[in-house]
Amino acid sequence: MAQPAQTEAGLETKPPVNGDTKLIVTGLMKEYHLSSGENIQAVVDVSFDVQDNEVCVLLGPSGCGKSTVLRMVAGLEEPSGGSLVLDGHEIVEPGRDRGMVFQSYTSFDWLSVQENVEYGMRLNSVSKAERREKAAHFINLVNLTKFKDAFPSQLSGGMKQRVAIARTLANEPAILLMDEPFGALDAETRWTMQELLLHIMESSQTTVLMVTHDIEEAILLADRIVFMTRHPGRVREELMTEFKGGRRIADKEAVINLPGYSELDRHIMHMMREESPNRDVFT
Ligand SMILES: Nc1ncnc2c1ncn2[C@@H]1O[C@H](COP(=O)(O)OP(=O)(O)O)[C@@H](O)[C@H]1O
Ligand SMILES: [Mg+2]
Repeated sequence: MAQPAQTEAGLETKPPVNGDTKLIVTGLMKEYHLSSGENIQAVVDVSFDVQDNEVCVLLGPSGCGKSTVLRMVAGLEEPSGGSLVLDGHEIVEPGRDRGMVFQSYTSFDWLSVQENVEYGMRLNSVSKAERREKAAHFINLVNLTKFKDAFPSQLSGGMKQRVAIARTLANEPAILLMDEPFGALDAETRWTMQELLLHIMESSQTTVLMVTHDIEEAILLADRIVFMTRHPGRVREELMTEFKGGRRIADKEAVINLPGYSELDRHIMHMMREESPNRDVFT
């Protein structure tokens, strides 16, 4: 595995994305049929690719269909049209090649941190010795080694979410799917978690598709941002965070201070305002 290098400014650099396409989303559609007989178009003709080892963020206003797209990639919902291809295989149902982290904590309260992280491997009949070793690795990755025997009820919100991340990564998914994973955390914890996630992605070379409505979070974490229109959701614009120069920088202040950050932030804010479902509230 390539080691991250350091620039003169002490910022981490990442190995370049190797160019293999991991996930191909083509003409994705989702229509919900309500019991009233009404049909709701939630997602319309959404197309984008995610490259191997890339962090792709789906960004857009509330209700635009971000979670719907992610759930279809997870195989939890069936598309009404279009196709989803992961590593050359059409997605038709949930699978072990996709790991999902939700906003709400999803660990088992009656299992310790260690047992939670081992749970998926146990289901997959991984040997006890290998389970122990892998769990220790991922628990260390999320800085919870001291708490490996604790139960989720004894942990803070941020720590619980770190358990969920370790648990999901321990199954070694081909792609990590995250839906507003830090949305329930307070601002400072959220910031720390974002930086931790960047460190994790650096050392575990994970491909990530993440949903957020938070512009700063998207710019900090993403290599690629897919910006969606308001409901019904289409892709409005795809943006690469080129101002980071191909680096993955686990220091929020350093990212904000880079030339190019403010322009991108302003551009996205402008789109977010235009796409806001509440845009007419003052008129
Ligand atoms: N199970 C469902 N039944 C009917 N409509 C739904 C369902 N899930 C989502 N929707 C609708 O689809 C649209 C997109 O929702 P969602 O994907 O949750 O948006 P986001 O995650 O961007 O906030 C919304 O208008 C929502 O009301
Ligand atoms: Mg959502």
